[in-house]
Amino acid sequence: MMKERSFLLNFPRRKNVYDDPEDPSRRIVVTNTVEGSKVPAAVQEMVEKEEGWRFSTFPVEKGYADMTVEEVLRTIITDPSVEIPTSFEGVGHIAHMNLRENVLPWKYVVGRVVMDKNKNISKVITKVGTIESEFRTFDMECIAGSDDGNYEVELKEEGNRFKFDFSKVYWNSKLAGEHRRVVEEIAGRKKEKGKGKGKGKGKGGEAIVGNAANTKPPVVADIMAGVGPFAIPLTSDFKVPVLANDLNPSSYLGLVENGKLNKSGNLLTPYNLDGREFIHKLSDEGTRVDYAVMNLPAIAVEFLDAFRGWDVGRCGRPVVYVYGFYKAEEGEDYDVLVRERCERALGVKIGEGDEFGTHRVRDVAPKKPMMCARFRLPKEVEGMERVDLGDYEMGIRKEEGGGEGGDKKRQKLG
Ligand SMILES: C[S@@+](CC[C@H](N)C(=O)[O-])C[C@H]1O[C@@H](n2cnc3c(N)ncnc32)[C@H](O)[C@@H]1O
Repeated sequence: MMKERSFLLNFPRRKNVYDDPEDPSRRIVVTNTVEGSKVPAAVQEMVEKEEGWRFSTFPVEKGYADMTVEEVLRTIITDPSVEIPTSFEGVGHIAHMNLRENVLPWKYVVGRVVMDKNKNISKVITKVGTIESEFRTFDMECIAGSDDGNYEVELKEEGNRFKFDFSKVYWNSKLAGEHRRVVEEIAGRKKEKGKGKGKGKGKGGEAIVGNAANTKPPVVADIMAGVGPFAIPLTSDFKVPVLANDLNPSSYLGLVENGKLNKSGNLLTPYNLDGREFIHKLSDEGTRVDYAVMNLPAIAVEFLDAFRGWDVGRCGRPVVYVYGFYKAEEGEDYDVLVRERCERALGVKIGEGDEFGTHRVRDVAPKKPMMCARFRLPKEVEGMERVDLGDYEMGIRKEEGGGEGGDKKRQKLG
């Protein structure tokens, strides 16, 4: 009987088996069948087979504490055409919900219930409108918890501490796995499981690709670094030097603070420049770069044009990880789409020896994946004419109105 768990009452924090108040030698097993309704056949059979077992009724009151978010909200939002919102992205103590238009009349009660039912959450926010800023932040409204305008959060990703103001910088907890994938690939080994800060840090781990055998750590340029979800583990856990840049002054400040919190030391060099300007600066200064990471998905691929004229002789040919959103037509191959878009921005072909590959990160909408392209910078970029930074506004080429997406991208960046 106990194996048939789906037939049991299964209320949170409630027992399924009770002592019989009238006969201490007997036990009462409570199923989820409401009085008057039919008992499932499997349960009926089981009770008939066991000697001394019988059906009875047992009063159980179901209150707010026993109900799931969905159950509570379904008693309030009775219109069956309205989908009950239950999912959120946790960013420290803040729950970030994207509520559909038809749920907005109930937004405060939704927020309250989500907060009550998730003990680590003390504030619930929802996005207001559809416009995202150049820095991928958005207008938010507090729908539960203290509406004090304070969106400072502190959280951990892969054992590293991150502190930032969620209303001023970009953060996406759903990218944690992708950050780990790229960081470990660059470092050439996996982070030891269960190791936090301190003991074992920067040591051991399972080798995965190339760099494990290298004695000299690679140099990484994180061109749209945000508050450091690539740069912090690389510098703090793996002792890989990172030149980390972000145009958003609040991200830059967060990056600096997170570097201190995680003891990145002078392995982390923060910059607060436009991504193209940063690439030109590295080339002008002849800085050796082994890896370049570019995560600003709507337009990062187009930033590859800043590598035209790159000083390959002094700076080398970094392995580039560049993110983009893609939408393929029926029968179109994502690998081809991604490659062609990268080549268009670079102005040269990615050669067969340039180790081109793609990774599907996640789907942001049906059939609209976020893809990561990885390839070695083609040496032919060196002979190309540099782009003029004066031709761009908010990261987008002025006369083209936004390369791949035109004006729409000004509304919804990255
Ligand atoms: C999608 S976020 C990625 C942040 C971080 N790398 C991550 O994986 O979470 C894109 C970042 O690009 C920054 N950004 C926007 N325009 C930029 C530009 N022109 N140059 C450099 N960074 C820019 C934004 O401030 C934001 O932090």
